[in-house]
Amino acid sequence: MPTMKDLELFKAAYKTVKEIIGIREGESLLITIDSVSEFRVAEEMAKAGEALGAKVMVAWHSTPKGYGMACDPYLPDPLHAACENTDAWIELNNQWLLYGTPWTKAVTNGRTRNLMLGGLSTDQLIRCIGEVDIPTQRAFQEKVVEISSAAKKMTVTNKAGTDLEFENHPDRPWANEHVAHTPGGHFLTGQIGWAPVEETVNGVMVFDGAISGGGEADIGLVKEPVTYVVEKGRLIEIKGGKEADAVRRWFEKLNDPNMYILAHAAYGFNPNARLGFTTTEDERIWGCTEWGFGYQGPMYSGGDPRVAASHIDGVCLDCTVTADGAELTRDGEVVHPELRDLAAKLGH
Ligand SMILES: [Fe+2]
Repeated sequence: MPTMKDLELFKAAYKTVKEIIGIREGESLLITIDSVSEFRVAEEMAKAGEALGAKVMVAWHSTPKGYGMACDPYLPDPLHAACENTDAWIELNNQWLLYGTPWTKAVTNGRTRNLMLGGLSTDQLIRCIGEVDIPTQRAFQEKVVEISSAAKKMTVTNKAGTDLEFENHPDRPWANEHVAHTPGGHFLTGQIGWAPVEETVNGVMVFDGAISGGGEADIGLVKEPVTYVVEKGRLIEIKGGKEADAVRRWFEKLNDPNMYILAHAAYGFNPNARLGFTTTEDERIWGCTEWGFGYQGPMYSGGDPRVAASHIDGVCLDCTVTADGAELTRDGEVVHPELRDLAAKLGH
């Protein structure tokens, strides 16, 4: 029996499998999903994969209690085996396999195209992929990377109190997330991540959007901003209210010095993202920046991952970003003259 938005969901699922991950006839497509995620999304993607000639398998499993390597012990053995033995893998898990052992093996095997769409519901998939003009989005993001990667010194501020400066690494890659056509780890359209030179990152980041760390640090929207004080790329103090306390306890529980090192910066630029659904969408709010600590994937390090017990992300809303003194965004809106027209075409 048809249910709400069946047609829009299938269209978005088909677009994801065909246009974003670029499945080809005869390829193996693995879709993973944990029990708290919306299974309907996996089902429609599986149908799309079949229609496009892929060999499809859906792995549905109980929900781990943590992200990344923290979820390893909860995963069935066949899942460990499957993730690294496929051409394409779409992850729909709420508690991310991302940065865990199966993920690391998969994204470094030179074969698997991994697309992390953690926890996306029907509505989210429709708005964040189905209703996005992907060619324009790609052009916009490519231009953002061109401008940003040419710069050495960057600053990020926002009205909540974020005040950061750092230098870009001349050789590290830029993880420009729009399509997932190459082997390795990819994310939902509308994010551009990179790892600055750790020793140059100084200041404060105030998470006034959301925090996502898995387990007890899976906070979602913050009621009270959480402030990280960062010196030379290392988190030295967490300030705020109850949520800051929970985050601090989670760091202590993980008991891993590598958790305190900045893993990446990221721009959020999905034109349709809305705050308050899941991290995957929260961290793509147009004009936000997002900061990850802990496990540093190879798409950021440019080589081996920097292993850590887990990974935690926080979102700073409505940022002003400068690259070698030139403003890209001001209070979350794109102002750079080379980006304005494309941003307007995307509805901003
Ligand atoms: Fe992250």
